[in-house]
Amino acid sequence: MLLSIETSCDETALCLSKIDYSANSYKKTLENINEEVIASQIKLHKIYGGVVPELAAREHTKNLPLLFEQLVKDKSKLKAIAVTTGPGLKGCLLIGLSFAKAVAQSLKIPLIPVNHLEGHFFSGFLQTKEEQPEYPILTLLVSGGHTMLFVAKSPQDFELIAKTRDDAAGEAFDKGATLLGLPYPGGPSLSKRAELGQLGKFEFPVSMQKDDSSFSFSGLKTALSRKVEKTDKQDYNDLAASYQEAIVKSLLIKCIAAIKKNKPKSFLLTGGVAANQRLRDVLKEKIEEHGVKFVVTPRKWCTDNAAMISVVAQYKIGLEPQRYESFKYLDNSANSIGVDVENSITVKPRWPIFNSAFNLALD
Ligand code: KG4
Ligand code: ZN
Repeated sequence: MLLSIETSCDETALCLSKIDYSANSYKKTLENINEEVIASQIKLHKIYGGVVPELAAREHTKNLPLLFEQLVKDKSKLKAIAVTTGPGLKGCLLIGLSFAKAVAQSLKIPLIPVNHLEGHFFSGFLQTKEEQPEYPILTLLVSGGHTMLFVAKSPQDFELIAKTRDDAAGEAFDKGATLLGLPYPGGPSLSKRAELGQLGKFEFPVSMQKDDSSFSFSGLKTALSRKVEKTDKQDYNDLAASYQEAIVKSLLIKCIAAIKKNKPKSFLLTGGVAANQRLRDVLKEKIEEHGVKFVVTPRKWCTDNAAMISVVAQYKIGLEPQRYESFKYLDNSANSIGVDVENSITVKPRWPIFNSAFNLALD
């Protein structure tokens, strides 16, 4: 079994899955998932209106051993452990990595570092073969920390098309919700209000229309704060609907431009904001009009989770099956895979997926 751990922000998530050593077995992770557990910290951070990094790290310290006990009934079955090592909150990443190292060293099993953004990308494969994306995949990754559009030509070759200049799409939702007096986390609460509102009553600027390589959401937020001052509370649902629509539109414009230019086989919508129903509906309709297969990560795996970490780990295992199948942990040897790999793995709070040295290397 493979144990995967995700603690890069405010969710402590663990996933147990059956290891498949064959090539491209990452596409079969869904059927190999045994069980997942997740401890959400929403209640804790709600009173502060956002994630407090120190509190999040303390919660991970508390939650990890409890969730581990709950999930892992037989430690001898664990043959590898995967953990998010970046990007994310440094303190939170460190807690996850330290825990994973301790488990790996005590059980003498390999430790696989995973990039969180790759996790969001690979989560698109947590569905049936027919529903999975096909390369080249134009991917819109929208979360609380990132907004990026890229083409995945293969599981190892990502080309950036556009990214945000300022706020991430999730931040636009979260900050918008705060302005409207809605509770944290802002995405779900703002979209609920938007569903009750009517479109077309307020106008918002759709930013960066001419620049295909940038998103920008800070202007929208400023526009909302001005409108909030002049609007009665009873019209807040309509305001939320128009604000959400402006976010959706600014994402859509770039996606369509990129489809025309890059001619991908499929389009993948993923990350926490991909849970948004309006975004899913609008993108699906418009993207299918261009004859491109529209794929979205199943809602339960849009926001941070450990199943997506196991898909990446499973991909790495499929690339080098012998390395993992015949893993020997040799104590006190600087050259042994075990000691060497585990000691050299560190957290990378900033870890882009677009540099030439692809992250799937074990360093
Ligand atoms: O992927 P994620 O869990 O964490 C990061 O890696 O950042 O994304 C969290 C973000 C938050 O900004 C949250 O407000 C947003 O995803 N989100 C949503 C919805 N559900 C979560 N935004 C819009 N509509 C939703 N239904
Ligand atoms: Zn995330």
